[in-house]
Amino acid sequence: NSGIPKRFLGKTLKNYQVSCKEQQDVINDAKAFLIEFSSPQGHSGRCMTMLGNTGTGKSHIASAIALCVIKHYGGTARFTSVSEINRLVRESKSYNAEYTETEIITAFGNYDVLIIDEVGVQSGTDAESRALFDVVNTRYQNMKPTIFISNLNINQLKEALGERLFDRLKEGGGLILGFNWGSYRG
Ligand SMILES: Nc1ncnc2c1ncn2[C@@H]1O[C@H](COP(=O)(O)OP(=O)(O)OP(=O)(O)O)[C@@H](O)[C@H]1O
Ligand SMILES: [Mg+2]
Repeated sequence: NSGIPKRFLGKTLKNYQVSCKEQQDVINDAKAFLIEFSSPQGHSGRCMTMLGNTGTGKSHIASAIALCVIKHYGGTARFTSVSEINRLVRESKSYNAEYTETEIITAFGNYDVLIIDEVGVQSGTDAESRALFDVVNTRYQNMKPTIFISNLNINQLKEALGERLFDRLKEGGGLILGFNWGSYRG
């Protein structure tokens, strides 16, 4: 039920090929992020943001982290996108909806790690960006870490998320990583 796309189910940090120092740094940051799950106090809740070009392995590494949280730490992980969060919240308003908006926000707020892909792809309505804010803020209050993935650069991301959300990504040592090498897809 993790939502990790089938394509990424076999991805690990080990099978991510490292061919430059920047890639090794990202792998080290991913490992440091994961190790926090084994600390007695639990994860600090600091976020991780992966920005950069297409085909550089952002979804690969995020999926590898989610799989490790599930398999190695026995935790819960969910891979989603801004458009999925918005769709679920929109559907919760229909008369025959299975879940209320509150239930959806609470569920997203409670995974040990949540990956939100495709940040900044759609500009969306105010109501939609509020749903994203509510999810991220709930996780922030629960001290649960969130991984954000985007093709935007840092200034565009700040613009797309707004100051209050952008601030939460950086809180408590939250990392913003640039994937600035060529596409692995060739
Ligand atoms: N360094 C690498 N070693 C091994 N496989 C890689 C590496 N980089 C990318 N890949 C593989 O290439 C494919 C594309 O990577 P991925 O989908 O993670 O890129 P992305 O950064 O999320 O791209 P996009 O921004 O288009 O979503 C995946 O199958 C991934 O496993
Ligand atoms: Mg991707």
